[in-house]
Amino acid sequence: MLVTGATGRLGRLVVGRLLDAGVPVRALVRRREAAATLPPEAEVFTGDLTVPASIAPALTGAAAVLLVWTAPPGTAEAVVARLAGQVRRVVLLSSPHRTPHPFFQQPNPVAALHARLEGLLAAAVPETAIIRPGMLASNALLWWAPAIRSGETVRWPYGAARSAPVDDRDVAAVAARVLGQEGHAGGDHVLTGPEPLTQAAQVAALGEVLGRPIAYEEMPPDEFRELSRGTAPAPVADMLLAAWRASLGHPAHVTTAVADLLGTPPRTFRQWAADHAAAFGPEPPPGG
Ligand SMILES: NC(=O)c1ccc[n+]([C@@H]2O[C@H](COP(=O)([O-])OP(=O)(O)OC[C@H]3O[C@@H](n4cnc5c(N)ncnc54)[C@H](OP(=O)(O)O)[C@@H]3O)[C@@H](O)[C@H]2O)c1
Repeated sequence: MLVTGATGRLGRLVVGRLLDAGVPVRALVRRREAAATLPPEAEVFTGDLTVPASIAPALTGAAAVLLVWTAPPGTAEAVVARLAGQVRRVVLLSSPHRTPHPFFQQPNPVAALHARLEGLLAAAVPETAIIRPGMLASNALLWWAPAIRSGETVRWPYGAARSAPVDDRDVAAVAARVLGQEGHAGGDHVLTGPEPLTQAAQVAALGEVLGRPIAYEEMPPDEFRELSRGTAPAPVADMLLAAWRASLGHPAHVTTAVADLLGTPPRTFRQWAADHAAAFGPEPPPGG
């Protein structure tokens, strides 16, 4: 199995999951030094999706590929052509842009890229499966951990917007399962957590797990857009704001796909928070 995006949030977990199951894993990394952060059992290949020829060695002899695409879109066709010539099965990490729920229906460049990759793969690769996580539980780390760690009020837009955050470990387990499902062409799986929670309730759940209340304050969307400059591309901030705004007053979209595929219930957001509580704790003192 070849895992692209192996140094990323999800790819790294998929590598670990496959190795735990005794499956030989190839990890595609852009820089050889990154291999040091991966389990030593993974066979590391360097390659860059924006330079399609560079992935050829990793593809030779691979049975299946997990495709994680956060690169610019220009080389999508050339990469898919290479995949089609070398492997029978590709699992694409996509998003629920086809789900008719306002949260997922805001036009944005990421959804457009995912749709394009899905079309290219369907036309060229014998077996394509798509996994579409909703909001990842680990977004809480990126979004709220800095304020929580320093004991500040969490300021965030659209606290009343609901989603059902899915635990990254469940997404990785599904990806590993689907990668190994030879002959099960055409799988299309929208993955959510079990529990609809507003954003403010997610922050409150983190406080419960940490054993201290966390103050939450509504942030105006324009301030969020302004603060996101430099950390996220403007279309990403706009996409998030549009999705949260559009979902106000709607129940969150919840699927049973994780349980259906794994035979175990998906982890709750609280479980994710409990298992990652240390990342929200105070910074250790310098040298301590
Ligand atoms: N966040 C969410 O809630 C959510 C929900 C649904 C779907 N998704 C989708 O999940 C995907 C992101 O997954 P993630 O969070 O695991 O990603 P991530 O942590 O941002 O990691 C991205 C990975 O892609 C690699 N990469 C970037 N550019 C590359 C290139 N040109 N060639 C080869 N590899 C390259 C990175 O390598 P380096 O280490 O070298 O940079 C890294 O390993 C996106 O498609 C996103 O739309 C996210």
